[in-house]
Parts: sequence; C-alpha cells; structure tokens
Amino acid sequence: MIAFHNVSKTYRGVRALDDVSFTVRPGTVTGFLGPNGAGKSTALRILAGLTRPTSGAATVLGRPYAELERPGHDVGVMIDAGALHPGRSGREVLVLGAMLLGLPRSRADEVLHLVGLTGKEARRRVGTYSLGMRQRLGIGHALLGSPRALVLDEPANGLDPHGIHWMRGLLRDLAASGCAVLLSSHLLHEVEQVADHLVLIGRGRVLAQGTAAQLARGRGLEQTYLDLTADTERSHL
Ligand SMILES: Nc1ncnc2c1ncn2[C@@H]1O[C@H](COP(=O)(O)OP(=O)(O)OP(=O)(O)O)[C@@H](O)[C@H]1O
Ligand SMILES: [Mg+2]
Repeated sequence: MIAFHNVSKTYRGVRALDDVSFTVRPGTVTGFLGPNGAGKSTALRILAGLTRPTSGAATVLGRPYAELERPGHDVGVMIDAGALHPGRSGREVLVLGAMLLGLPRSRADEVLHLVGLTGKEARRRVGTYSLGMRQRLGIGHALLGSPRALVLDEPANGLDPHGIHWMRGLLRDLAASGCAVLLSSHLLHEVEQVADHLVLIGRGRVLAQGTAAQLARGRGLEQTYLDLTADTERSHL
C-alpha cells in the first residue's frame, strides 16, 4: 500500500535520507521510530509529495502522491497539525476539507465526533486550540476521505494519556478495517503498543525493521533502540 524504494535526500550536501526502503501493508500499523533529526519528517514529506527525493521513490498504491487520482481518499496525511489556519474554527477547517473532497458537510460532523472534539470546541478558532486539540483536528482532517492509507508525523505530540489511549484505539480500529497506517515518533513507548511493525531510523538510514519481538532480540526493545541509535545520540552532545 505504502512503499519507499531506495529513497535518498540530500539538502545542500547534508544527507537527510540514505537509501530508505520499507513497506506498510494494508491492515497494519507501522511505527517509524528514530531520534530527533533522523529523517522521519523528510521521509513522510516525500511520501506526501511535499519534498522531492534526490533519488528513489515513495509510493501509495504503487504511485507517487502527485499521480494519485483521488489523493484525499487514497491517503490521509498529517505532517504538521500547526499548519491548519488559525483564524478558522475547527468545524470550518473540516467543512472546507470535506468540500474539497466532494463530501457532504455532515462528514465534518462525523469526523469531529470521531476525534472527540465537542460542538463547543469545534466552534472555537483553531488559533485558540491547545496542542492536543490541534493534533486531534489534524488527525480528523487526514481522515475526512476515509482513506485507505494514513500517514501521521508525530501524532502523539501534545496528547495527554487519555489522548494517547484514544489514538491507539483509533489507529487499531482503522488497521482492523484494512487501512495501512504509518506513524512516526521519537519515543518508543508511543509506538510499541500500537504498531505491528517497527522501522527504526537513525541518521537517515533504516537501522532495523520487524515486529517488536524480532527487534527486541532478547535484550529488550528499549535497549535495542538505544544501542542502534547510540552514535546518533552522541552527535547531539
Ligand atoms: N529543508 C531543509 N533544509 C536543510 N536541511 C533539512 C531540511 N529539512 C530537514 N533537514 C535536515 O534533515 C535531517 C532530518 O530532518 P527531519 O526533520 O527529517 O528529522 P526528524 O526525524 O523528523 O526529526 P524530529 O524527531 O526532530 O522531528 C536533519 O539533519 C535536518 O536538519
Ligand atoms: Mg520530524
């Protein structure tokens, strides 16, 4: 459903992604895990057609994003929940999104219910939202077209424990209905409970991928993550 084929990206001599390949199958949740600066957002931006890869290709349903005939229905994307217009109400953001996709206004209300924004909250300007409310709205915006694939960059940022619990349930339900879900995080505990499959990235390279059990390799998942990204961490000191 989602595939990265040998994707590399260089920004003025700095290699942000180096030969990244992995796939996300329908009906599964894949956690894209790596420390700050690892290249997660760059990879997801390339998948969403917002950044050009230097080489390789990222595809949804076998096509680059720009060539999808029904992009909002094929893949829902939340890269930056802060990018939603601050002057519009949450409901206006979703109504406009629904109209762009040729969907009735009632879809906006369905989505508000799905992401747990109340009627009163939905009437407030997005600029007054907390980070967690913006994340919920951003996830809702990505879900408007009932997409077959969902791509979320750090969706747990700003969510409280109830919000994280809610999001895990939502993503599991979506996967159970056949959606291919890809979410990124720099925190292991945010993804390990929800993801069937993990892709570990550090300094632009895929360091390991597999199920949590495969990656734990007897020493525990957290230790694997720390060991594999140790040189990346040192570079920040
Ligand atoms: N537009 C850009 N111009 C130059 N360098 C960039 C640009 N975008 C990203 N980079 C660099 O690419 C590398 C990967 O950044 P990226 O934002 O993809 O990491 P990330 O894994 O999403 O990190 P974080 O967990 O902090 O969100 C970093 O070294 C970053 O400085
Ligand atoms: Mg990022």
